[in-house]
Amino acid sequence: KRVYVSRDMASVALGADEIARTLAQAGCDVVRTGSRGLFSIEPLVEVEMPEGRIGYGPVGAADVGKILDGTHPHRLGDVGALPFFASQQRFTFARCGITDPLSLEDYAAHGGWRGLDAARAAAPQQVVDIVKASGLRGRGGAGFPTGIKWQTVLDAPDGPRFIVCNADEGDSGTFADRMLMEGDPYCLIEGMAIAAHAVGASRGYIYIRSEYPFAIDTMRAAIDRAAGRIAPFVIEVRAGAGAYVCGEETALLDSIEGKRGQVRAKPPLPALKGLFGKPTVINNVLSLAAVPFILAEGAQAYADVGFGRSRGTMPVQLAGNVKHGGLYEVGFGITLGELVNDIGGGTESGRPVRAVQVGGPLGAYFPPSMFHLPFDYEAFAQAGGLIGHAGITVFDDTADMAQMARFAMEFCAVESCGKCTPCRIGSTRGVEVMDRIIAARDAAPVAAEGAAGGYLGKALHSRAPSRIDTGIAAQTALLRDLCDTMKFGSLCALGGFTPYPVLSALDHFPEDFGAPAPIEQ
Ligand code: NAI
Ligand code: SF4
Repeated sequence: KRVYVSRDMASVALGADEIARTLAQAGCDVVRTGSRGLFSIEPLVEVEMPEGRIGYGPVGAADVGKILDGTHPHRLGDVGALPFFASQQRFTFARCGITDPLSLEDYAAHGGWRGLDAARAAAPQQVVDIVKASGLRGRGGAGFPTGIKWQTVLDAPDGPRFIVCNADEGDSGTFADRMLMEGDPYCLIEGMAIAAHAVGASRGYIYIRSEYPFAIDTMRAAIDRAAGRIAPFVIEVRAGAGAYVCGEETALLDSIEGKRGQVRAKPPLPALKGLFGKPTVINNVLSLAAVPFILAEGAQAYADVGFGRSRGTMPVQLAGNVKHGGLYEVGFGITLGELVNDIGGGTESGRPVRAVQVGGPLGAYFPPSMFHLPFDYEAFAQAGGLIGHAGITVFDDTADMAQMARFAMEFCAVESCGKCTPCRIGSTRGVEVMDRIIAARDAAPVAAEGAAGGYLGKALHSRAPSRIDTGIAAQTALLRDLCDTMKFGSLCALGGFTPYPVLSALDHFPEDFGAPAPIEQ
C-alpha cells in the first residue's frame, strides 16, 4: 500500500516520524510529503485507495493496524474536501502536502516549471510587466509592488545583479515560509529563477534562519537536484545566526556579506545598491513563490482574486490559542472574524477570544469588536495595524494586555541591533514605564466608577512620593510620547513598529492599564 506522511517540522514534532517508520515496517510504500497545513489533524496519514487518498488524523504509531484495515475512527476521507481546505484558494501552496517535496517528477506532474518556461520564452521586460499586472505586493510585510521593485533592478545601470530570498521568518506565529520550503522547495527555486531571468541575475541566495534546520536541508537538496533545470542561474543557501533584525533586508544583506547584521540607512535602496553594493532583488519567500503561478496562469488569473489594492491570495497563518491552527491560503478581503472564528474555530481553551495580534510581535492587537476588518493592507493600516507576514496569534480572556505591551518593549530591547537611539534606549525605557504602570495598576483596587474617582484616581493619589510621577496617567502619557519617538525616529521597522502592539493594547484594552474599560458599541 502507498501511504503519505508529512515530514514537515511541525508534523515531526507531533510524532510523524514514528508513524512513518511503523508504516514502513508494516510493508507500506511510505511517501514523505510536506504538511497540508491543518495541525489539529496532524500527524496525518493518507492511504492511496482506488477512490483516491483517504486521510486519517490525528493518529499515532499504535493506530497503524486500524489505519491500514480502514477501521480507524479518525477517518477523514478525502482531506482536500474538508471545509478547511475546500474553502481555500491555494495558488502558492497548491502542491504543499500533496507531492514528495524533492521529487522532480512529482513537481513537473503537478504543473511545476510551467511558469519558468513561460518566463524564459518572454523578454525580461515582458516578465516584469506580467508581475506588475498581477498586482503582487511584497509578502514580507511592507506590501511594496514586486513588479516595480524588479523594474528598478532591471533598469539599474551596473551589474552583476543578485536575487536574494528573505527566509528569515522571525515573526512569532508565522510558519508559511518554512512550510513552503519544506513542502514545495522547487516552487521557491522556480520563482527565483523567474526573477533572475526578469532582471538579468546569474546568482541567488536564500537566507534561512538557523532555527529551520529541516528547511535548510530540504532547500540545499532541492537546489542540487534542480541545478540543471535552472542553469545558468545558481542558488546558494545561507543560514542565519539567530538575530531577529536580520529579517530586515539591509541587515540580512550585511549578514550574507559576512558582517554583523546591522541595518543600513536607506537610500540607497537595495534594488540599486544591495548585496556587495550591486543591484539586488530582495523578496520574501512567499512573494517569490507566488510568481510561478502568475507566469503559468497569467497575471489576470492572479489579479482577479483579492480586495482593493491587495490582489491575489495571502497564506494566512493561524496560531496561538486557536482550535484549528494552521495555514489558510485565501484571497484578500476575508474578514478577521471569519479567519479567527469560522476557520480557526475560536480558542483552543474554549474561553472567549480577547485579542488577536496580526503581523508578528510588531503587529497590533485587535479586539473582537474589530473583527469586521477585511484582510487588506490598506484597511489594516487605517485601523492602526499591519498585515505583516499574515501571522494571526489568538489570545483568550486570560491575557493581560499590559503584560503584552511590556513584552513588545522587552522584545525590542533584546533584538535591537543598537544602531539608533529611539530603539536601543527607547525600548529599555519602555520596559521601565510599563513596569511602573503595571505596579501602579496592581497596587490599586479596581473600581468601576471611572477614571477620575476610580482606579486611576486612586492610583494617582496613593502612590509613594517620588522624583518621577509614577501615577498611571503620567506614565501612560510618557508611554505615548515614547512610542511617538520610536515610531518616527527609528531607522527600521523593529524600533518603528514596536509602538503598534503597545499602543493598540493601550487603546483597545485601557482597563488593563488601570483606566476604565471602553464602552461596548
Ligand atoms: P519599506 O517600506 O522600506 O520597503 C519595502 C520594500 O520595498 C523594501 O524591499 C524596499 O527596499 C523596497 N522599495 C521601496 N521603494 C522602492 C523603489 N522605489 N524601488 C524598488 N524597491 C523599493 O519596508 P521595510 O523596512 O523593508 O520593511 C518593513 C515591513 O517589514 C513592515 O511593513 C513590516 O510589516 C514588515 N516586517 C516583516 C517582518 C517579518 O518577519 N517578515 C518582521 C518585521 C517587519
Ligand atoms: Fe537597529 Fe532598532 Fe534602529 Fe532598527 S530601529 S536600526 S533594529 S536600533
